[in-house]
Amino acid sequence: MAMKFDTPAGMNPIDRMTVVGRPVDRYEGRLKTTGTATYAHEQRDVGPDAAYGYILGAAVAKGRIASIDTREAERAPGVVAVVTHRNAGRLGTGEFYVQRMLAAPDVDHYHQPVAVVVAETFEQARAASALVRVEYTRFAGRFDLEAAVGNAPVAPQMPFGGPTETEVGDFEAAFRDAEFFVDETYSVPDQAHAMMEPHATIARWDGDRLTCWTSIQQMNWGTRDLAAILGIPRENVRLFSPFIGGGFGGKGTVQADLALAAVAARAARRPVKLALQRALMFNATIHRPKTIQRVRLAASRDGMLTAVGHESWSGNLDGGRTEPTTLSTRALYAGPNRMTRVHLATLDLAEGNAMRAPGEAPGLMALEVAMDELAEKLGIDPIEFRVLNDTQVDPENPGRPFSSRPFVRALRLGAERFGWDTRVATPGRVRDGDWFVGMGMAGAIRAAPIAKAGARVHLGRDGMLTVEADMTDIGTGSYTIMQQTAAEMMGVPLERVVVRLGDSSFPQTPGSGGQQGAPSVTAGVYAACMALRDEVARRLGFNASDAEFADGMVRSGNRSLPLAAAAEGGDVVVEDAIEFGDLSKRFAIQTFGAHFAEVGVHAWTGEIRVRRMLAACAAGRILNPKLARSQVIGGMTMGIGAALMEEMAVDKRVGFFVNHDLAGYEVPVHADVPHLEVLFVDELDPVISPVKAKGIGELGLTGVAPAVANAVHNATGVRVRHYPITLDKLI
Ligand code: MOS
Repeated sequence: MAMKFDTPAGMNPIDRMTVVGRPVDRYEGRLKTTGTATYAHEQRDVGPDAAYGYILGAAVAKGRIASIDTREAERAPGVVAVVTHRNAGRLGTGEFYVQRMLAAPDVDHYHQPVAVVVAETFEQARAASALVRVEYTRFAGRFDLEAAVGNAPVAPQMPFGGPTETEVGDFEAAFRDAEFFVDETYSVPDQAHAMMEPHATIARWDGDRLTCWTSIQQMNWGTRDLAAILGIPRENVRLFSPFIGGGFGGKGTVQADLALAAVAARAARRPVKLALQRALMFNATIHRPKTIQRVRLAASRDGMLTAVGHESWSGNLDGGRTEPTTLSTRALYAGPNRMTRVHLATLDLAEGNAMRAPGEAPGLMALEVAMDELAEKLGIDPIEFRVLNDTQVDPENPGRPFSSRPFVRALRLGAERFGWDTRVATPGRVRDGDWFVGMGMAGAIRAAPIAKAGARVHLGRDGMLTVEADMTDIGTGSYTIMQQTAAEMMGVPLERVVVRLGDSSFPQTPGSGGQQGAPSVTAGVYAACMALRDEVARRLGFNASDAEFADGMVRSGNRSLPLAAAAEGGDVVVEDAIEFGDLSKRFAIQTFGAHFAEVGVHAWTGEIRVRRMLAACAAGRILNPKLARSQVIGGMTMGIGAALMEEMAVDKRVGFFVNHDLAGYEVPVHADVPHLEVLFVDELDPVISPVKAKGIGELGLTGVAPAVANAVHNATGVRVRHYPITLDKLI
């Protein structure tokens, strides 16, 4: 039976904030810093005879396999099995991705898996993979988004729901009549997650039951999709994913390592360890697809937006999704006349899908630069321009209020602490030696979804609480905030709470993605703990409604007993879940922020350095300011990458991402990241859940790159609309 949450939360045990809201250390921090956290590829308890798998990716981007000859590879030293489409059995696809594996004779994209070699050692598997002889017939592929823009249809569906086209008022007429307007086209290139830990799996079969240790963000999608790919019952699949070395959306559900480790283990009749080689992470998993975005904004002389238009184009494999860049534009600013539309072209590149705030991150890289451009034309300060156009209701659904929206407070707080009033509005006027110096800002918005989440809580005779859920921790802090929530609810110190995550047999949660983990799973722990409090009260003869849980004791009136006394007759084990009905239809639930950047641009070389940055974030209750700050500075670092560095270059003749490793795909390193300041707007969101907290991970990224872009313009007077902003575009 699940707890239903559909009205704003009143006071509850979370509001005591004795451990919730404190900057406590990471629950698993010691394991990670001492190298003793066991990641997927490091699991030892899989049996003594694990073999190694190595994937051979297609050497052409579009075509057919004329022949595969595996005989030489099979005779190579140490080889246990060579799996191709001929002996793999028919593989399906999951629900979330359209990419296919061992799909021969078809080749849909470069490095699509065509064979898996299994051998006693990794080196033997890799060496033998070079002996698999594949003959291809190459077809002309479609690799160029610019070339496809002219006839790309409107996308058939929008990720995360809603229409692909929206219209309010009469956009075209309002835009035509405008005195002040911008009409510009921006582009964000293909980008890679480039997380540190590669996709990696160990798969083991016991009869028809499959156990996999893997690195995956959403466990319940994982069992669903793996069962569908293999054509086996979902109940026969068990996944473990206790630690994850970065996900960023790239490990949402089943990638080639997981599916093909399972297939290879079945063929080899042994457990198989399989990590994706770095190149395959770029060309044979998902990535953020390139977008071309036209933004049209119009305003009256007094700075009120009269027309807001955003059209966007991206490409994907057949059946793949569009990049939902326009989501943020629908909700961020008021304006009576509006239109948004996303188009989708078919391209023969690796699949585009969720990466680091899909939609908002690239969408705001266009919209928030266009806002800067229009503010400049109007001669209005960019912050005042945004304040003027704030709204407290969803601009496309006026009946739908925001659950909370302290956007203006975030703008004001950030501006004050950043020293925005010292900015010189005219570009190119501030010099520091050989450097032009500029300041820029951007608004930020990111959806705060919430989903049904369960948890199981055990209370032992020793007074220890154990919390279990199929949640994952991708480096974000899930363990810690769940520990804090349980400790708060039950009135025990943190050390008394054990958290076990990353087991697909545990109660279901939405997992880590779309910044919905924190609000959902803490609410799930809240629900399970409410049920545990009832059960403890019943066993101890208290009335649950007036029993107080604090300091490891349960009290009511003059009576007081240790919490552990409830377990004297046997452990207390309670499971519950929380669900939210149509809450997110009745309220627009979003997080808000303001990002500020100061950059230096070298007068002679055009080199761009970020000198300082600040983020002001509004995400409801901040459950743990140390972890929340870590989330935000991680996002800000990604934002520096998106603004200045990150780009997968497409070879348009051959059809692949050229820079497919961490040497060629540039991301910020320590020397690129200055001091980052993070402020939190003091607020609660009683609408989203009893815990009153929203996710913050992706909010930390959205809005960062356009703030940097706007700072570069303020420093130099050069407006770069095509990311990344590299020095060649300034000179
Ligand atoms: Mo995220 S890109 O929703 O893991």
